[in-house]
Amino acid sequence: MSRSTRPAVRPFIGGNWKMNLRLASAVELAETLHADLSGDGEGAALDARIDVAVFPPAPYLMAVGRAMGHGPPALGGQDLSPHEDGAYTGQVSAGMLDDLNARWVLVGHSERRHGLAEPPETIRAKLRRALEADLEVVLCVGETLEERESGDAEATIVEQLRSGLEGLETLEAFPPERIVLAYEPVWAIGTGRTAHPDDAEEAHRWIRRTLGELYDRGFAAATRVVYGGSVTASNAAELFSRPEIDGGLVGGASLKAESFAAICRAAESRLGTSA
Ligand code: PGA
Repeated sequence: MSRSTRPAVRPFIGGNWKMNLRLASAVELAETLHADLSGDGEGAALDARIDVAVFPPAPYLMAVGRAMGHGPPALGGQDLSPHEDGAYTGQVSAGMLDDLNARWVLVGHSERRHGLAEPPETIRAKLRRALEADLEVVLCVGETLEERESGDAEATIVEQLRSGLEGLETLEAFPPERIVLAYEPVWAIGTGRTAHPDDAEEAHRWIRRTLGELYDRGFAAATRVVYGGSVTASNAAELFSRPEIDGGLVGGASLKAESFAAICRAAESRLGTSA
């Protein structure tokens, strides 16, 4: 599927701050990013047709949200509870994210899927909860190095995707702009070892083919699939030049305003000149 056969989609860039920064540095990063991207700083505003979100640690959501005003960037949570409320020590509900004006949430990140052995049914329940609560979701999938080397990358990704989306055909409203798929090979996250754009594109095609099978080709073409795993200001332009790669989910390089803003600007090349 080439870009010419797909409708134009809004590029998405996410900055996952993980368990980094402290309150003062998080607020400073948010203020600088907001100035850079909104045009309040020295440069021009980022094209409004690009969706940018940052995912700060939960305790800093309110302060970071205040520092960014109405954005850009938009605000997102790194995780949410599959439960609405109740006796769930340490968990953060969709309603709490909503109270803090967090529009986005990450689900299925490998640091939870693999790092914390979060089971597929929990990932599925979190995705469903997030959509029911009107949040926009970044659903992460990706294979380990062992799975890639043994030729199981495609099967792993397809299985994670099918499992995560199971039951969602019964949701009334499930428009493609509410969900972003992030292909994040586990071996590329935080390692400095970026997937080759050819390999990333191939994985994105597996994801789109699966979406086409589960829903339809139109849904698959309109759904954003972004790449994550050691995206930097130096490799973003090459990745985003590929028709299948609608943006990125960025960890380490999102902790500095300069590199994250440069990555956001690299996505401007995906926009047509007419609209
Ligand atoms: P990284 O992290 O950019 O530091 O590799 C990406 C992610 O975990 O989303």
